[in-house]
Amino acid sequence: MTVSTIILAAGKGTRMKSPSPKILHKIAGKHLIAFGVDLAKAIKSKELIVVVGVEHEQVTKKALSDNEIKFCLQKNRLGTGDAVKVALEKFKIKSKHTLVLYGDTPFVTKGTIKRMVAKAEKGFQLVFLGFQSQTKNSYGKFKLGPKNTLVDIIEKNEPGYSSAKGLSNSGILLAQSNIVTDLIQKIKNDNSKKEYYLTDLVKMATEYGYSSTFVECKEDECMGVNSQLELSVAERKFQDEFRKKLLAYGVSIPSPETCFFSYDTIIKSGCVIEPNVFFGKGVKIQSSTIIRSYSYIEGTHIGRNCQIGPFARLRPGTNLSDQVKVGNFVEVKNASLATETKANHLSYIGDAKIGTSTNIGAGTIFCNYDGKNKNRTVVGDNVFVGSNTSLIAPLKISDGSIVAAGSAINKDVPLESLAIARAVQENKIGLGKKIMAEIRKVAGKIKK
Ligand code: UD1
Ligand code: MG
Repeated sequence: MTVSTIILAAGKGTRMKSPSPKILHKIAGKHLIAFGVDLAKAIKSKELIVVVGVEHEQVTKKALSDNEIKFCLQKNRLGTGDAVKVALEKFKIKSKHTLVLYGDTPFVTKGTIKRMVAKAEKGFQLVFLGFQSQTKNSYGKFKLGPKNTLVDIIEKNEPGYSSAKGLSNSGILLAQSNIVTDLIQKIKNDNSKKEYYLTDLVKMATEYGYSSTFVECKEDECMGVNSQLELSVAERKFQDEFRKKLLAYGVSIPSPETCFFSYDTIIKSGCVIEPNVFFGKGVKIQSSTIIRSYSYIEGTHIGRNCQIGPFARLRPGTNLSDQVKVGNFVEVKNASLATETKANHLSYIGDAKIGTSTNIGAGTIFCNYDGKNKNRTVVGDNVFVGSNTSLIAPLKISDGSIVAAGSAINKDVPLESLAIARAVQENKIGLGKKIMAEIRKVAGKIKK
């Protein structure tokens, strides 16, 4: 069966009380609307149309930056029925069936849509997705006919509505394209909200001799995000499920509820993630690596058997090979560290390439920014960089070299050399004693 998908995303999202559009809020680093986009792709939609409001058009296009999406503007928010109508007027649907998703309902699964498709294949022209709610709510309610047919969906504040009774409407709809294109024109706004309700399609279908039915799923699959509180509930649900997947896969996370993952985090089995670790977008970790507590990691690839943290910060563009150690209070950005290299304490490594078995001493700073440009540092294999050193880029330190502690290095260091760049130390014999005596004398006077 071929399906085209329309995602409704023109709502104001007023209850988010946020300057950015609701659909661009994120769960585990992923825009709300991107969940719908991914679902549409997972079911191999022939085309994907997103209905947006005027003020959010540009920012939504930019955030999604996806050439496969066709955007459609709904100038006035006249309701869900109007939003679908606007899309169907702008684009001639290419598939026999049209799926309508909501931009703020992120957890609907491919399996559920497949069950809807199966119903449509049995000959039902409209298939809505519903759920049994544990609590009283304000969702539209299904009115059922014989043999699980759907004869109406009654919206809140409309005659016959009961908040407690029956299956609730998720809003998700799979419909035969030619029929929805025809019936959508006939929807009226003679209701309490003066809106065009998409749900009115059901009673119109009955009138015109078409059949409607429903598929039921769990309530939390249809969870919508309308407020910051609901966004946090959705985040928690996502994180709980993600943690369970990692644990089942063989990642040790002794305190899973304290670790936060991005939707795209990849961690191989045998890794240990200690409590209180945060993963931003784009992290991949190979097997048997340990991430110690309070580390913050994003845009980073980490090899096997590495030791990271505690308190490490790995920023985008970091690439660590196998058996690398990055210790406490070390920040790495846009830099690669080859096998068995160590930066164990208090360092900043930015815009660099470091070879194998190199030691970056405590307090080493890669001075990559000269106020105008970011410059690169290349450090070879088997290099020893002494503590409290400034490496002033652009710079190359060749294999087997030693940089003396406390140096400020701004000239390339040739192969197997010792580089020292600090003031020469002088020892003035006896001067310490003299100065100490003077200090004590002054201190004594002050006391009197
Ligand atoms: C809708 C359903 C209701 C269902 C509920 C589930 C209708 C009439 N009612 O109600 O049966 O229980 O969803 O959450 O459909 N949108 C537009 N343009 C508009 C209006 C809305 O694009 O003019 C979009 C919104 O961005 C949102 C979706 O449509 O993604 C749903 O809109 P919303 O106003 O939240 O519908 P509900 O009143 O919750
Ligand atoms: Mg809603």
